[in-house]
Amino acid sequence: MYTEKMLESMAKVAANREANAAMEPRRMTAEEKEKLLATYHPDYIESQFATLSVGPNKGEKVPLELRALLEANSRVKDMEIDLEKPFYDVDVLVIGGGGAGSSAAIEAHEKGANVMIVTKLRIGDANTMMAEGGIQAADKPNDSPAIHYVDALGGGHFANKPELLYRLVTEAPEAILWLNKLGVEFDKMPDGTMVTTHGGGTSRKRMHAAKDYSGAEIMRTLRDEVLNRGIPVVDFTAAIELILDEEGKAAGAVLQNMETGEILVARAKTVILATGGCGRLHYQGFPTSNHYGATADGLILGYRAGAKLLYQDTLQYHPTGAAFPEQIFGALVTEKVRSLGAMLINVDGTPFMHPLETRDVSAASIIRECKERGKGVPTPQGEGIWLDTPMIEMKGGEGTIEKRIPAMMRMFGKYGIDIRKEPIVIYPTLHYQNGGLEIAADNETGVPGLYVAGEAVGGIHGRNRLMGNSLLDIIVFGRSAGKNAADRAKDVKLGKLTLRHVESFAKEMEEAGIKSDIVSPKLLPDYARKA
Ligand code: FUM
Repeated sequence: MYTEKMLESMAKVAANREANAAMEPRRMTAEEKEKLLATYHPDYIESQFATLSVGPNKGEKVPLELRALLEANSRVKDMEIDLEKPFYDVDVLVIGGGGAGSSAAIEAHEKGANVMIVTKLRIGDANTMMAEGGIQAADKPNDSPAIHYVDALGGGHFANKPELLYRLVTEAPEAILWLNKLGVEFDKMPDGTMVTTHGGGTSRKRMHAAKDYSGAEIMRTLRDEVLNRGIPVVDFTAAIELILDEEGKAAGAVLQNMETGEILVARAKTVILATGGCGRLHYQGFPTSNHYGATADGLILGYRAGAKLLYQDTLQYHPTGAAFPEQIFGALVTEKVRSLGAMLINVDGTPFMHPLETRDVSAASIIRECKERGKGVPTPQGEGIWLDTPMIEMKGGEGTIEKRIPAMMRMFGKYGIDIRKEPIVIYPTLHYQNGGLEIAADNETGVPGLYVAGEAVGGIHGRNRLMGNSLLDIIVFGRSAGKNAADRAKDVKLGKLTLRHVESFAKEMEEAGIKSDIVSPKLLPDYARKA
């Protein structure tokens, strides 16, 4: 299965393993990082971005692929929709069935609201389910939310919205307790203390995990809670446009059944967008670690309704996507592999960077090693860098891999690769949307009654998120979105329902001379099987 060149290089990795394991490559200086990012990180390639001509962020930079969807035609264009006869009528409408949407629904239900989840796939078909490495919380005696704040602020290039980051880190310990109480099986010591590890850019070990399927374990628990509470979940039904009332308040959504195409109206006193990320837009042709439905739908819906975007020009390329074999191209190889001791090694068998730099720096460094220095490992599909997994057992003892990262062992094992004995080839993969819709500390956008939670939010993580802060934000901000939307719903008196904002947006496009053949939100990737 391996090419001769790969086998030759792999032999060098094995020969140098002991010496490599004994060294710790130095961390880069701030100046070195800046220069590296400016030259090699995909966010800095000017030709891959364009300026928006319409909407609340007019004049600002966005990735080409996102602009095409923001400046596109509504799916409701030319449809006759009777907004006065809603099929659903609820207090709180949650759009999205991942970790943030489920947390929001649970808390809204807890507040007594009549809440409903609508999701274009099924509850749990979400990036939460795919998350591996863990969830950060400063709950050990040598740590504090203040240290967590500083780590995340540095990782985010000091661009994080302070009020959001403050909430993220101060509410983190309670988020872990909440999940633990709901039934999440975190890794624990025999005395019940939680096991914690480092992630890239963390100065304390604060990553709580359920082996290397932390997201699946969390999603399983949240989904059970939603279903046990009897919260209605309308699946295979996409929100294709938000509805406002005549005063401009969020008032529901136009829904479309993904199988039959049927259009339904949901009226709601408040709306929570929890639609997740964008990996399936494959920015700049990158593969992705994201789930099938990650097509940035919430950004399109919110933007057309008048909500602002923040840091929409910054994406996260996870440094270690699988680059070989082809069948798992782009799949996530958790950062935990490096936390446990695996190092990044080039084609000559030489380490070239500290394995736990922040993600943007790590990704750029891997790209440089391949593209500029010619030190990539050639694979049948392209190239990558070795991640020397056998080092984990050399450092942590036999059995560490099976115990701590069994999902990784199985993913590669299916293709005959025993990661306890052989290194694996990785390359950056599109992983996370750092930016999204701007919210205030209470989750509300500039559109009254429109709340956002999870990956569709921009600003919590600044311009680069640290590992484990996303599973955290879906819980912290998911829960508060649910509580706040439920509270607000108690006082809301909706006026007449309208889609006038959609017409205004189309008019603005016309006046700006924009003609597009594209309809958005996209809902499914380009390669989706058509019925
Ligand atoms: O590497 C990982 O396990 C990913 C974690 C994250 O994005 O938070």
